[in-house]
Amino acid sequence: MNLKRVHFGVIGVALGILSCGLLILTANLTLRAENEAHRLAEAYQGFQDGKCQSCHPAIWREWEDSMHANAWVDEIYQAAAQQVPDRETKCDQCHAPQPILITGIGEMPKLRNRQRQAGVSCLVCHLDAEGAMNGPPASAETYFHANVTNPIYTEPTTLCGTCHGQQSVPEHDQVSSFLNSEFADGDTSCATCHMPVVKRLQSTTSHESIKGRKHTWRGSRSVTQLKRAATLQIEHETGQVNVQLRSRTGHVLPGGTLRIMVLEVTRLAPDGTERQKQHISISAKNENRLLPSENRVYAFDMASATTGDTIKTRLIYQLTPDTPEPKRILMAEKTLMIR
Ligand code: HEC
Ligand code: HEC
Ligand code: HEC
Ligand code: HEC
Ligand code: HEC
Repeated sequence: MNLKRVHFGVIGVALGILSCGLLILTANLTLRAENEAHRLAEAYQGFQDGKCQSCHPAIWREWEDSMHANAWVDEIYQAAAQQVPDRETKCDQCHAPQPILITGIGEMPKLRNRQRQAGVSCLVCHLDAEGAMNGPPASAETYFHANVTNPIYTEPTTLCGTCHGQQSVPEHDQVSSFLNSEFADGDTSCATCHMPVVKRLQSTTSHESIKGRKHTWRGSRSVTQLKRAATLQIEHETGQVNVQLRSRTGHVLPGGTLRIMVLEVTRLAPDGTERQKQHISISAKNENRLLPSENRVYAFDMASATTGDTIKTRLIYQLTPDTPEPKRILMAEKTLMIR
């Protein structure tokens, strides 16, 4: 028997098996990639065809009404982005992003080529590269998508920070000031104030009600949220009125860079006529936003105040510098009679 030939024979067979294996492996990988691409396409199509809406009607209604759904169509956004020549690389990627589980939690999002109108859609926060929906522990299965339990949803500050905390975009950063505050020490997350807990059927095909969170994300367009944002105290001492402004917000206040808070102090005579009026604007532009829990005292000169005068202080919110008077929101107010 020729040993050499046997050897070559064995090597030949081994090589044959190996290349066969490789072929199967590549075929498998291609098949898997195709399957995944197919599942992603199915998710986008399902979203478009109203499938998410039909099985998750309550969550859909909340989202539809939120600024996440409107992040692309928002007129204030479009007007601002139109001023930016390279908006596709500087702006649009967060206002119509690809799913962030695919581009990476914490990484700068990438601009989506389809369904831009849907802004920050369900898929942006939930869809992974395999076409599954990630979320907190689910109570039921569905044929439409796989469910993946992912701990980042239960304390979602890191998830939110993908768009609300990019170091290179400080004008849209609510996360840094939150992380530097006492709010971050306890169980508080962005969801505590912006996604209230609700127990309900999480889909029309679920059998039991479980704890979830509302997808409302009420912010600066919500009067209730603004009334919770800060408190006022006033105190009169000889010649001056001290107004104490305390933030109850989990991040810089006001949260957005376009927003303005006006602290207004008026002195009224006993018959109601206005005798004196002063105000201070608090905004990113003025570099005097409040930090979380900050307690700031403003002293207003009231040297000519006399007994019987009323001091009235109001905190007013403007969405933009152009917000007309009737659309400004009263956040807090306090009055004091001088005795
Ligand atoms: C045929 C019904 C059906 C359709 C269509 C459907 N879902 Fe679901 N979905 C469910 C059910 C059932 C659950 C589990 C709910 C529960 O926990 O009770 C679920 C859970 C989820 C979860 C949570 C997953 C987890 O593990 O926590 C997300 C996120 C989700 N769906 C998003 C979507 C999106 C986005 C779409 C559209 C692309 C969609 N769903 C379409 C039925 C559906
Ligand atoms: C993929 C990017 C992205 C992620 C992730 C994201 N957001 Fe947003 N969010 C936006 C954009 C963009 C806007 C601004 C839309 C506009 O006003 O044009 C916004 C707006 C908001 C608003 C303002 C609403 C208002 O009425 O002013 C709140 C509150 C908010 N997000 C909270 C959250 C929370 C909490 C999380 C985490 C659970 C989160 N966001 C995750 C992109 C994102
Ligand atoms: C890192 C993600 C990201 C990028 C990049 C980004 N934005 Fe935003 N944008 C957000 C988030 C998050 C909000 C909501 C929170 C806020 O207002 O800070 C927002 C809100 C806004 C708003 C406020 C809309 C309103 O409700 O009044 C405007 C205007 C805006 N963006 C314009 C731009 C422009 C112009 C660019 C490019 C120069 C840009 N954004 C780039 C994430 C981003
Ligand atoms: C800005 C990110 C974001 C967007 C956009 C978003 N979700 Fe969620 N979703 C979350 C977070 C965070 C949770 C975890 C809430 C919790 O702890 O219960 C969640 C939870 C869920 C759950 C599980 C039930 C629950 O409330 O915990 C379902 C189902 C779901 N989302 C469906 C949707 C659908 C459908 C849409 C679009 C209509 C959508 N989500 C849009 C962030 C998002
Ligand atoms: C303790 C409650 C609380 C927590 C925690 C909190 N917020 Fe807010 N948030 C508010 C209040 C109140 C407002 C309205 C006042 C304002 O505009 O800042 C607000 C407003 C916002 C706005 C709208 C800003 C604007 O100008 O349109 C965004 C965006 C936002 N929050 C995102 C976040 C994110 C992201 C986190 C997590 C890092 C978070 N919030 C944590 C209470 C909270």
